[in-house]
Amino acid sequence: MADGTDTKSSNQMWGGRFASGPAAIMEEINASIGFDKKLFAQDIRGSIAHATMLAHQGIISTEDKDKIVHGLNTILSEIEAGNFEFSRSLEDIHMNVESRLAALIGPAAGRLHTARSRNDQVALDFRLWVKEELQKCEQALTGLIAAFLDRAEEHADTVMPGFTHLQTAQPVTFGHHCMAYVEMFGRDRSRVRHAIEHMDESPIGAAALAGTGFPIDRHMTAKALGFREPTRNSIDTVSDRDFAIEFLSIAAIAGMHLSRLAEEIVIWSTPQFGFVRLSDAFSTGSSIMPQKKNPDAAELVRAKTGRINGSLVALLTIMKGLPLAYSKDMQEDKEQVFDAAESLELAIAAMTGMVRDMTINAARMKAAAGSGYSTATDLADWLVREAGLPFRDAHHVTGRAVALAESKSCDLAELSLEDLQAIHSAITDKIFDVLTVEASVASRKSFGGTAPSEVRKQIAFWRARN
Ligand code: ARG
Repeated sequence: MADGTDTKSSNQMWGGRFASGPAAIMEEINASIGFDKKLFAQDIRGSIAHATMLAHQGIISTEDKDKIVHGLNTILSEIEAGNFEFSRSLEDIHMNVESRLAALIGPAAGRLHTARSRNDQVALDFRLWVKEELQKCEQALTGLIAAFLDRAEEHADTVMPGFTHLQTAQPVTFGHHCMAYVEMFGRDRSRVRHAIEHMDESPIGAAALAGTGFPIDRHMTAKALGFREPTRNSIDTVSDRDFAIEFLSIAAIAGMHLSRLAEEIVIWSTPQFGFVRLSDAFSTGSSIMPQKKNPDAAELVRAKTGRINGSLVALLTIMKGLPLAYSKDMQEDKEQVFDAAESLELAIAAMTGMVRDMTINAARMKAAAGSGYSTATDLADWLVREAGLPFRDAHHVTGRAVALAESKSCDLAELSLEDLQAIHSAITDKIFDVLTVEASVASRKSFGGTAPSEVRKQIAFWRARN
């Protein structure tokens, strides 16, 4: 055949699954159209900017430029309407578009590739794609932060147990816990913004690796494509995939945050905890156990993180040890980024929905907040403040009070004044003011602390920035 795919018969030893011999194997390993067709809009946008610049610089005629731009716009509509036939023998999106352009406008199509190479072309297309994806992530994270701010406001006074080692530690407010996630996703969003700034340079015009002898204007194409400026080193430009690796790193860190949230939702929604109830939209029933309501969406978010981490490690490994400049290894960058982007977008959307929809069981949270001697630190602090004990001694006295309560199977607040005074004579009935969970949280007014008044300040700070 003309494209040479089945000129040889399949090799007996290693060609088992290939109908038509080595040429078909080469095509299968070489072709990227199966996934890089996702870049069609960026490819066409880049080509229109490039052709326009070539005509502006007198490198091609205006007439040819007009034909090229018209042809490219036709192709764009064909692809958008699903009327475009992608061909694997044309390898990738760049050659698929160019070949169709030749069919549409004839020889003028051959002038489009003047002063560029597929090496700077793919670097451009992919960079544009990743930049747009980062902008989508920024929006999505803003939505997730907004969901947490609303829940935090609603529950600034709702007391829950705070944990360390997943053991009850000290009472906190649910609003404060929500605001911890606001900080985390806020950091993710600022990483996204920095990455957009980092990558905001246009690769087109680096050509194969050495630049070009044609009098191109790279500032013009950079501006037309919405970049701050052109990249400065043509060798680096076609070798660089830092922008993709930065995207994956950011995705991996955000994914780690999302999976911690997912895990907390899994724990909180168990009947044993009962802190939250997921909406039907984000849970599923069991086909055999009618009582169950499973947090499947949260579990899948937890799992997506594994995929994203895999993509980051894959691309770091692909790029590691590659000599400058372009090598075909780099074609393997795209699927990792596309897959991670899809996982991340879905995970943020699912968590935003879950956070907005879940019902908070404040009574359960409060009951749990009071168990496990969670106000023991408050007792110790009171002894320091009111009785002048050194903290270490106060800690010891409190330990004895906890042991006594444990032996009586009651809470600290249920011990009698006589019991407490037997442990330390300086204790007065004022101690009972700090043994409730409400008093405990209200007292923690240090900057960034869990007191409802502090949490409201944190909410106001973030509202102004979201
Ligand atoms: N499909 C290729 C990629 O994704 C485009 C660049 C090809 N360049 C080359 N010199 N073969 O990396």
